[in-house]
Amino acid sequence: MTTKGKIVVTGGTGYIGSHTTVELIQQGYEVLIIDNLSNSEAFIVDRIEQISGVRPSFFEFDLLDQEKMDAFFNQNKDIQGVIHFAAAKAVGESVQIPLHYYRNNLVTMINLLEAMKKHQVVNFVFSSSCTVYGQPDQLPVTENAPVKPAESPYGYTKQVNEAILNDTIKSGANIKGIALRYFNPIGAHHSGLIGELPRGVPNNLMPFITQTAYGIREQLRVFGSDYSTPDGSCIRDYIHVVDLAKAHIVAIERLIKGTNKSNYEMFNIGTGNGFSVFEVIQSFERSTGKKLNYKVVDRRPGDIEQIWADTTIGNKELGWKAEKTLDEMTLSAWQWELNYRNK
Ligand code: UD1
Repeated sequence: MTTKGKIVVTGGTGYIGSHTTVELIQQGYEVLIIDNLSNSEAFIVDRIEQISGVRPSFFEFDLLDQEKMDAFFNQNKDIQGVIHFAAAKAVGESVQIPLHYYRNNLVTMINLLEAMKKHQVVNFVFSSSCTVYGQPDQLPVTENAPVKPAESPYGYTKQVNEAILNDTIKSGANIKGIALRYFNPIGAHHSGLIGELPRGVPNNLMPFITQTAYGIREQLRVFGSDYSTPDGSCIRDYIHVVDLAKAHIVAIERLIKGTNKSNYEMFNIGTGNGFSVFEVIQSFERSTGKKLNYKVVDRRPGDIEQIWADTTIGNKELGWKAEKTLDEMTLSAWQWELNYRNK
């Protein structure tokens, strides 16, 4: 079968990685997933095949293992690009076990870039986060806003990894990179076959909502209703994971085609709309017809009050725009929860 080329997706069995793998396959790419399954399940590879009709190759190893990484790149030639998702991502956990976060998220990035240099793989898309902005002084936040001191080791790893990528590129390595600064990805593939699959008690809002509605959790706690926002709860820019996945295809193709304006670029990936926690709950109740049990509790330490993206630069440069509504996001998240639990 002829394909458009081979793309390596690290963390390809994870939440965003699996959705991106589906989109890549559907766009005609051959996908090679590297994942250590530390926070994901092997059956996701079957689900990707079920959706797309093509099974991605799956390599189970840890990016900390340089020998395995070297062997991987020796075995797999002509790789057009790497999309790097694999990382630990729980903000609270990163405060508890910072050394794990620093080793896991930073050393893997270094190993990957060294392997790319050695094996002459040029194009790199990095999974960054709006967390690099902290609480911005101006909203919506543009790519030119200053990077603020990180609130958590997790956030700091995103900032440092952006710097590692930028410095590597500036040093003359034959690498081109795009950092995508995601806002809050939620929702799931319309097939209901892949979605967010947190282990244990979810930290993030959307899986907590769907698990509460399903009866796995008793009650959602809304962290604070005394913020300086219209309804008092925090505001975020929620983006459908499939829209987010599509941004990665556009970004890697920008590098492959050479339409990038500089060898290191970063873009906000959001919808440009901010929604409060209460608005997300209302959307969930509206789109699913289910009542959610929730109560307001104290603020969660480390939460910023409000953030949403200025998407002007990303929309213009990438020719990409998020399309799905909040109700589509909340409904698809629910359908995934139902499908997964009733399997
Ligand atoms: C955080 C990180 C983000 C990271 C993401 C993934 C920051 C600023 N953001 O997003 O970079 O990619 O985690 O792990 O560090 N909420 C409740 N009740 C809950 C859970 C959440 O009210 O049970 C509220 C939060 O207070 C927040 C909103 O829902 O206002 C979204 O929270 P969450 O889904 O955890 O994402 P962030 O903290 O925004």
